[in-house]
Amino acid sequence: MALILAIESSCDETAVAITRDGELLANIVSTQIEVHRKYGGVMPEIASRLHTENISVVLKEALEVANVKLEDIDAFAVTRGPGLIGALHVGLQAAKTLAMLYKKPLIPVHHLAGHIYANEYVEKLEYPVLAVVVSGGNSELVIMEDDMEFKVIGETRDDAVGECYDKVARVLGLPYPGGIPIDKLAKEGTHAYNLPTPLQGEHTYDLSYSGLKTNVINLVHNLEQKGEKVNVPDMCKSFQDVAIGMVLDRAKRAALEYQVKEVILAGGVSANSYLRSEIQRIMGELNIKTIIPPMWCCTDQAAMIAKVADKLYKTKLFADLSLSVDPNWIIEDYKKF
Ligand code: KG4
Repeated sequence: MALILAIESSCDETAVAITRDGELLANIVSTQIEVHRKYGGVMPEIASRLHTENISVVLKEALEVANVKLEDIDAFAVTRGPGLIGALHVGLQAAKTLAMLYKKPLIPVHHLAGHIYANEYVEKLEYPVLAVVVSGGNSELVIMEDDMEFKVIGETRDDAVGECYDKVARVLGLPYPGGIPIDKLAKEGTHAYNLPTPLQGEHTYDLSYSGLKTNVINLVHNLEQKGEKVNVPDMCKSFQDVAIGMVLDRAKRAALEYQVKEVILAGGVSANSYLRSEIQRIMGELNIKTIIPPMWCCTDQAAMIAKVADKLYKTKLFADLSLSVDPNWIIEDYKKF
């Protein structure tokens, strides 16, 4: 029976979770969204500073909710990457300090492995699995032939899909994080604007979002210059069809080519209602099971880090105290640190 304490601080959520043998005892998240909203996106320097202020408060609350003491913890886990370098450092320093003080193992966890295994709070994965990882910082398609085996078959060539949602929202005057208002307004709009699909005609599992973002910005500016009003719901719908359409196209082809048993969604953009319903519809037609994470699993939290740490604890994948963060850590290299 392992009691794991996990820390997540890769972006704008300071989070601590405690699990006993994979069962969640506490999952405390302090989000900085309100602060970053003023800037229309995450300000890295402010994020690091707020993590420093919040980490001990979140830690204390997690221990109280789980009703455990630090000396009872068997291992301290932490998100080592990918993410914002300064933000990651705060979580890492906290985890290292605790591991040193209580003489317990330190477990480095890959943030996206966390998002993928958040789905195991719903049910155990059955392999082969296609993981569609769509977040504010990453967009990739990962094939998993077995537990903790990751092969990236496609990734974004430029911006992440969530990042693109956030930028498009900003140009449309919508609040950060942009995915939520765009998702909502798209339901009221029609596909009235013509936005070209990136990488069309290429047989690839890669994605690309910077051209789509530029196309929306140019279209909005052109309409404004002509004195025409942008129909925001229509623009949201037109944009979302292309942005999510690209993900659906890759997911469908990959699921068939790799003959997967299950398709899972992971990351912040998996909260998108159009993506959630369409992936279920498409995979349903192909008789492939889809696992959709509950909403609380889509945003950043440490429960997902604890889930992966529990697996790594069993294989004794521990780091020593010289561990450093890696803002660009590749999921395939999760054993290398
Ligand atoms: O995974 P996440 O919390 O942060 C990273 O670790 O990157 O994802 C945040 C991203 C933001 O870009 C946000 O706009 C997007 O997820 N997002 C959505 C929705 N809810 C959040 N994107 C599309 N539709 C949504 N409903």
